[in-house]
Amino acid sequence: MKRITIAIDGFSSTGKSTVAKELANKLEYVYVDSGAMYRAVTLFAMEHGFITENIFNQNDLIKNLKDIQLEFKFNTLLGFGEMYLNGKNVEKEIRSLEVSKLVSKVAAISEVRKVLVEQQQKMGAKKGVVMDGRDIGTVVFPKAELKLFMNASAEKRARRRFDELTKRGDDVSFDEILKNVEYRDYIDSTRKDSPLYKADDAIEIDNSDLNLEEQFEIILKIVKKRIRES
Ligand code: DC
Repeated sequence: MKRITIAIDGFSSTGKSTVAKELANKLEYVYVDSGAMYRAVTLFAMEHGFITENIFNQNDLIKNLKDIQLEFKFNTLLGFGEMYLNGKNVEKEIRSLEVSKLVSKVAAISEVRKVLVEQQQKMGAKKGVVMDGRDIGTVVFPKAELKLFMNASAEKRARRRFDELTKRGDDVSFDEILKNVEYRDYIDSTRKDSPLYKADDAIEIDNSDLNLEEQFEIILKIVKKRIRES
């Protein structure tokens, strides 16, 4: 069966990574969570004091980009690649609200995007890849055989994120999460470099009122059809 490139874009917390992981497992494709890469760069910037809630020394981060080594190492128990920053597993840290609050600012820097986009294109060069993010169908793989654009209301997305963070023991409020979701939507879709938008040839999936099984069933049908036609 022909192996294709599947690009999944959309607003934050629309369940892109859940769908992407499931698809990758089902099709035996590589899954790449490009957001994890922007999150890891943000964590690096935080650890080095380049960014806080009040300051952002962009030039220091840009100068030190060459010292950032990112790698996904497959965890057989979890069934996906976990993010390693300079040899350390940072999967948990990069999902914190602190990182979520700052990541959009880091992701708006063109020098950061250039480095990460190049790495993403290499990871997908052999096809058989499912990659999720904000610019996968528009910038990273504009020729992807299948592009999906996921959407859901901000309240639904904040509720999912809130449940995820409280389940793992983080002390967060729903309002704070909702504000963060709306703030990231705004920054991600209005930034100058590679803003989030739906590619003309992307298929939009609004999952506000779909459960995971219903959504996966719809998407799997689309994927199988596209693989047959490719
Ligand atoms: O998908 P996520 O929420 O983990 O992504 C974290 C941030 O990284 C998000 O606010 C926007 C940014 N991002 C991006 O600009 N481009 C991508 N391809 C993926 C993520």
